[in-house]
Amino acid sequence: MPNQDLKNDRFLRALKRQKVDRTPVWMMRQAGRYLPEYRASRAKAGGFMDLCRNAELCCEVTLQPLARYGLDAAILFSDILTIPDAMGLGLRFVEGEGPVFDRPLQTVADIRNIGIPDPEGELRYVMDAVSTIKSALNNSVPLIGFAGSPWTLATYMIEGQSSREFAKTKKMMFDEPEALDELLAKLSESVAIYLQAQIARGADAVMVFDTWGGALSPAAYQRFSLQPMELIVAKLKKFAPHIPVILFTKNGGQHLSKMADTGCDALGVDWTTDLRDARAKVGHRVALQGNLDPLCLLARPERIREQVARVLESFGPGEGHIFNLGHGILQQTPPEHAAAMIEAVHELSPRYHV
Ligand code: CP3
Repeated sequence: MPNQDLKNDRFLRALKRQKVDRTPVWMMRQAGRYLPEYRASRAKAGGFMDLCRNAELCCEVTLQPLARYGLDAAILFSDILTIPDAMGLGLRFVEGEGPVFDRPLQTVADIRNIGIPDPEGELRYVMDAVSTIKSALNNSVPLIGFAGSPWTLATYMIEGQSSREFAKTKKMMFDEPEALDELLAKLSESVAIYLQAQIARGADAVMVFDTWGGALSPAAYQRFSLQPMELIVAKLKKFAPHIPVILFTKNGGQHLSKMADTGCDALGVDWTTDLRDARAKVGHRVALQGNLDPLCLLARPERIREQVARVLESFGPGEGHIFNLGHGILQQTPPEHAAAMIEAVHELSPRYHV
């Protein structure tokens, strides 16, 4: 059991709702453009995908926030869109526009034609990054692996880029739901084996980012977002029962109870749900991760501290809370404001764990 060798296992303990001395903390998108040292590494690499394909540079940027702050976990530096790229859709990141696919899925035949990428083949560069990071961490803190949810990946693959309304994806969902089911089945299988490979290379926990599940009706959420994630959890639990799985549906507050029934270990909660209500909904089934509004980090440090206190108070005393932002940290965030948040968690949380 490699976990027992970790010098700091607060994050893994909290995921299992075991006793900790203070609430563990990490930040979604903790390695990224708000850090000047990240921008320097990114410039060395060239494009964002060049950075993702270079294990040494991935490792360098993964460690940057850990060098600055007292964080309790590292997260693999990569992207959720590596899987669609490996399926042959041709991913590019266009400055100021975000991700773009050269060959989006347009027809049922396109869906039939895509295959399931081999994590140690087309996606080997991600696995090499996991190994390099795991070894550089030297068991200081756990390493989180991740993937996008099938539904979230499908939206990018069908729209061909970021979208607000998901017009093409929803048209397919209503017109040809079986075609969408077929795509989601391929993505579920791809995500499951991709996360298994990350675990085999040393990831200590894995997280599924369902950024766009909150755009669905409750019935559609159940079929097109939750069921594929449930399948992934089942496969992961069969493969590595002791590795914690975190599910995060942004804007998914109303689905927390159903999400807790998937057999996952923890749920990410954004700031639109109060942690007290979330805890009441999930009971002792799962731990909760969140949920400070990332925009709060633009305010002055005294205000940040007040909001940290509020989040800690909303979860209340007891085990099973991982402090985090409710979504990724903004590029405009002053790095010292992130420090203020983390210091406040260190100072204010021990009283909840007596
Ligand atoms: O949390 C971490 O530090 C780990 C790395 C990570 C990145 N992306 C790095 C990244 C993770 C976990 C992601 C997940 C991701 N990627 C999601 C789901 C999480 C979420 O935010 O809801 C999504 C939807 C994506 C797709 C994606 N990748 C988008 C929309 C963008 C932004 C494009 C832009 O130009 O703003 C990216 C690029 C990206 N992924 C960056 C980083 C640090 C910025 C790239 C750069 O350096 O220019």
